[in-house]
Amino acid sequence: RDIDAVAGELRAADHAVALTGAGVSTASGIPDFRSEGGIWDKFDPNEFHYQRFLADPTTFWEKRVEMHEAAFGGDVEPNAAHEALAEMERAGVLDAVVTQNTDGLHAAAGSESVVELHGTGTRVACEECDSRFDAAPVHERVRDGDVPPTCEDCGGLLKPDVVLFGEEMPPGAFQAARNHAQDADVFLAVGSSLSVQPAASLPRLAARNGTLVVVNLEETPLSGTADYEFLADVTEVLPAVAGRFL
Ligand code: OAD
Ligand code: ZN
Repeated sequence: RDIDAVAGELRAADHAVALTGAGVSTASGIPDFRSEGGIWDKFDPNEFHYQRFLADPTTFWEKRVEMHEAAFGGDVEPNAAHEALAEMERAGVLDAVVTQNTDGLHAAAGSESVVELHGTGTRVACEECDSRFDAAPVHERVRDGDVPPTCEDCGGLLKPDVVLFGEEMPPGAFQAARNHAQDADVFLAVGSSLSVQPAASLPRLAARNGTLVVVNLEETPLSGTADYEFLADVTEVLPAVAGRFL
């Protein structure tokens, strides 16, 4: 089967990388963005633009906490897809996970080499002095009406430590991701609609020299390009692949 073929390619690869999107976390109870009932069904993406944050940080933060609650409110834990990727890294057949997710679940599952392209929602960053703080107590302050929240060190404005629309990606993270994609003999693009740039350019780059494997419930713009396409659940396909290395 195709699972065996992909496992064989991973075993033979010098460099293998996975790019993940919101679809790897839906089984953890976190809605994705673009499916029916997804985050962009319930919230207006325009509210999460960097310009909005600058123009009206109070409204931005109130919406942000509401959205965070809707997405990550439950008891959020890694699922079989995160665990399978961590297992493949331990088995020595996966070199890195590049993720668009901000939920921190790859690290929680035990993946060590993780590139967070869109930052992490579990922290906030000071716009003035660049200090980082845990997000949870800051969200609590916002709910208590202390908004917009400011930095304990310098009084500067705090921002979620995620990449907002209209904001640059951390240059180091994107460079690392590009290098991984360029070097990859096998590139797994999993649980992503592959519709947001520049992350979506990575599988295309990888496909020039490497084998591209896409796992997603629905077709993506890369469907025609992929060497292997599984229109299937990541919590089934990834453990099946990882199981070949036990
Ligand atoms: P999307 O919501 O655009 O795509 C998630 C994809 O995962 C959809 O195509 C679903 O069909 C699929 N999916 C959901 N559950 C799945 C499962 N169990 N197994 C397989 N596939 C599944 O999310 P992303 O591609 O991650 O940006 O979106 C990229 C970026 O857009 C996000 O990082 C976010 C958003 O705006 C920022 O926050 C900067
Ligand atoms: Zn500060």
